[in-house]
Amino acid sequence: MIDVKWELGVKAKSDDFEALVAEARGYVARAQQADFGAWVDLPLKYDKDEFERIQRAAERINQDSDYLVCVGIGGSYLGHRAVIEALGGERGRTKILYAGNSLSARGLEKVLAELEGHDFSINVISKSGTTTEPAVAFRILKRRLLEQYGETAAKQRIYATTDAGRGALHDEAVAMGYERFVVPDDIGGRYSVLTAVGLLAIATAGYDIAALLDGAEEERMSLISDGGKAAEYAALRNMLLRQGFNVEVLANFEPQFGYFNEWWKQLFGESEGKDGKGIFPASVIYSTDLHSMGQYMQEGRRELFETFVELAEEYDGVRVPAEPENLDGLNYLEGKSLDYICKKANAATREAHLAGDVPVIEVIMPRLDEQAMGALIYFFEMSCALSAYLLGVNPFNQPGVEAYKKRMFELLEKPGFEA
Ligand code: PA5
Repeated sequence: MIDVKWELGVKAKSDDFEALVAEARGYVARAQQADFGAWVDLPLKYDKDEFERIQRAAERINQDSDYLVCVGIGGSYLGHRAVIEALGGERGRTKILYAGNSLSARGLEKVLAELEGHDFSINVISKSGTTTEPAVAFRILKRRLLEQYGETAAKQRIYATTDAGRGALHDEAVAMGYERFVVPDDIGGRYSVLTAVGLLAIATAGYDIAALLDGAEEERMSLISDGGKAAEYAALRNMLLRQGFNVEVLANFEPQFGYFNEWWKQLFGESEGKDGKGIFPASVIYSTDLHSMGQYMQEGRRELFETFVELAEEYDGVRVPAEPENLDGLNYLEGKSLDYICKKANAATREAHLAGDVPVIEVIMPRLDEQAMGALIYFFEMSCALSAYLLGVNPFNQPGVEAYKKRMFELLEKPGFEA
């Protein structure tokens, strides 16, 4: 289960906290009943037959592919990349490559070069089935697949994760006979990592997706009646925002969490940033960023609060060896684990930033495994929904994302969008 602690320092007040927590607790049922609220009960009510098919597909991919290219953007790729990288990367034969999350020719050419001489499969993921970035990348990668394997075998290496009944990708998948997985109608992209959107890649990377869902279910049980710790975190964020702390920096001492930070930024940014409102979600990876952003965090504009994602477990890994000469002056650390030193750096950073008037929140996961990741994902999803309701916005739409698309289609002279 995910724990939350906080210290606000002298500049922030906690006057409204209890009232905001009470208000947030009331929003759990609203999220559950909302359009696009099916993620709330997903860890209990997921499609068990599809889950079995995902497991089988992941095994097949590990038998026949050196690479699985995951083609998707936003909520259709950040979640599984976050989980796979946070847990330490691929464990099996099949490595995951990502495409369709940009329009960079160089980026896609790099993926194509990496595939040279290797067996590969494609998981194309798009709820709408019409997003330009993944659609273009898929067409290019599909051509390579066809050239390499011929039409019949190529079709068996394409896994399409999309809407159950509509969209260009759905129609192509049906026409061509690709294996299909479903992005449920009532779950939006950024809440979809625990559906087929995320599960096929995570299972292919060698992780236990049943444990991931178990962890999410355990967290659901602890939050479902009154929002639990998620309601407290949501209330803290909104209380701080009302006092002028309008930037939240997610901080982590584990570089493997880089893409988790990206997933979190999308979750909160796309859910809350609308109607002229929202906390700006930023992120850092420490110690790296202590030597770049550390100065700003300590002494820059005082509109920041910082949320540390932490691991409670001690990691008994590499230790500082003995060196009798002590020329580097490090003998006071002899025998200490790197994790011990890292945890001290973490505590020191929290204390220093707090003393510099940065309110500090800690979101603590018990350990780093599939179950705890499932719990952490669910905790942030619930927190985000409750927080957006406190802010007075709809957590589940993203009308602003359309603006650039419309202009891009005009510039590209897409039929129907001519200026
Ligand atoms: O959270 C969201 O809804 C978005 O980030 C989408 O996931 C993203 O725009 C990709 O859309 P689609 O899956 O329809 O290609």
